[in-house]
Amino acid sequence: MIELAIIGGTGLNTLEGINITKKRVMRTPYGEPSGPLTFGEYNNKEIVFLPRHGSGHTIPPHKINYRANIWALKEIGVSEVISIAAVGGITKELYPARLAIPDQIIDYTWGRNNTFCEGAEGNVVHIDFTHPYDKNLRNRIILAAKKAEINIFKGGTYGATQGPRLETSAEISRMERDGCHVVGMTGMPEAALAREAGLAYATCVVVANHAAGKKGQEEISMKEIELHLKKGMEQVKLLLIEILNDKE
Ligand code: HPA
Repeated sequence: MIELAIIGGTGLNTLEGINITKKRVMRTPYGEPSGPLTFGEYNNKEIVFLPRHGSGHTIPPHKINYRANIWALKEIGVSEVISIAAVGGITKELYPARLAIPDQIIDYTWGRNNTFCEGAEGNVVHIDFTHPYDKNLRNRIILAAKKAEINIFKGGTYGATQGPRLETSAEISRMERDGCHVVGMTGMPEAALAREAGLAYATCVVVANHAAGKKGQEEISMKEIELHLKKGMEQVKLLLIEILNDKE
């Protein structure tokens, strides 16, 4: 039985400390996932890892085949998915290299294939999405962070933008007025597709930079992003190991 799937984001293309057992290329009715699924073992538990942007980080956020990724995970019998994603921090508690476990989403993306329910099935499906992330899985991540003494922000609203460009400072001001705490480009439609597929899904975000305009007039540099991500992803790795240690 596969205990857990991890979708890795920018800065997390591989999983260290996990014994890789096999890789599997999958085909789905929606095309190919971002790459082969990597199966691994930790503490006698089987997990599967999928780098969202491809193993060489070549797929931009708006080109990711979110449907194929979620479908492939469902197909192999996964029931829980933890998504890892880099974000910009909008509110002051979400400073660079800090981790957060958001509990809400606002979707600003457009033109993405965002559903498995195309109407062709003969009935119209409207999933409930009041609470977009799985409560139980979120709680387990939060508990693991506490145990591992990792500084996380519990909650917050993830604003999903289209990318691949970063935002203007006016866009970030608007998102802040809307109630967003962090901004990222990959949180949707991934979360909604997971709900449609009946998978328990939660996300752990890593603040890579102050969102546009949140550090005076300074422009956002890739160097800054890389530096903070490196630090944040070290914490993510510890967190994931703690979650796996916790699972019976
Ligand atoms: N905006 C959107 N996505 C991001 C950012 C950002 O500032 N940083 C990392 N991913």
